[in-house]
Amino acid sequence: MSFNFKQYDINDLAKEFSNKKVIKLSGLLSKEDLIFFKRKIPEIMSYALRKDFLMPQTSYTPRKMTVVNGSVTNNQAWLTTKYGNKELIKTLTRISGSKVRECDNLIENIIITRLHKKNDTHGWHYDDYPFALILCIESPRIKQGGFVEYINKGKTKRIYLKEGDGYFMRTDLVHHRVTPLKDDCVRTIINFTYAIANTLVVPNGSADLLLTN
Ligand SMILES: [Fe+2]
Repeated sequence: MSFNFKQYDINDLAKEFSNKKVIKLSGLLSKEDLIFFKRKIPEIMSYALRKDFLMPQTSYTPRKMTVVNGSVTNNQAWLTTKYGNKELIKTLTRISGSKVRECDNLIENIIITRLHKKNDTHGWHYDDYPFALILCIESPRIKQGGFVEYINKGKTKRIYLKEGDGYFMRTDLVHHRVTPLKDDCVRTIINFTYAIANTLVVPNGSADLLLTN
């Protein structure tokens, strides 16, 4: 099994996911994975793009963040083997109740995003693709911001991620963002994007604006 899913009751996760369309996965990464990922990230960040603009497709919410897109990540076997792991995809299928498949867009299937300057934020949006599995590699302290916020039944909810935590979200149905950093500090995540079998995704162009030059 890829990642630490054995520690969870998958039926409980499926119930929670069906109710809220998002689940936090505390301690998803093993210590070994976290140490390894942290060692690999710096070399990959040398290919990162800096983004600072208002996204037209999402009511001009801000993107102040640093991103690495699939043109880089898909050349990294340590990422692609985890991303395409059959057991992982089966587990996500059980949790979501939909037949999960890999994302066919090789720019946004595996993304790394980093917030690292004061006021960096990934503003409110929905995604084109239905699922994101997020792995937190570097996290600010609670008082430094950089929370995941999402709307559930009209209420704003928050998820605080420690290094090694993750979450799984129905990103095309749940409105979500990452709140601005209050200081210069580092928040780095790996975003695995997934789709639903036999379901076509029609991109609105926002992913290209965010992820490419
Ligand atoms: Fe998103």
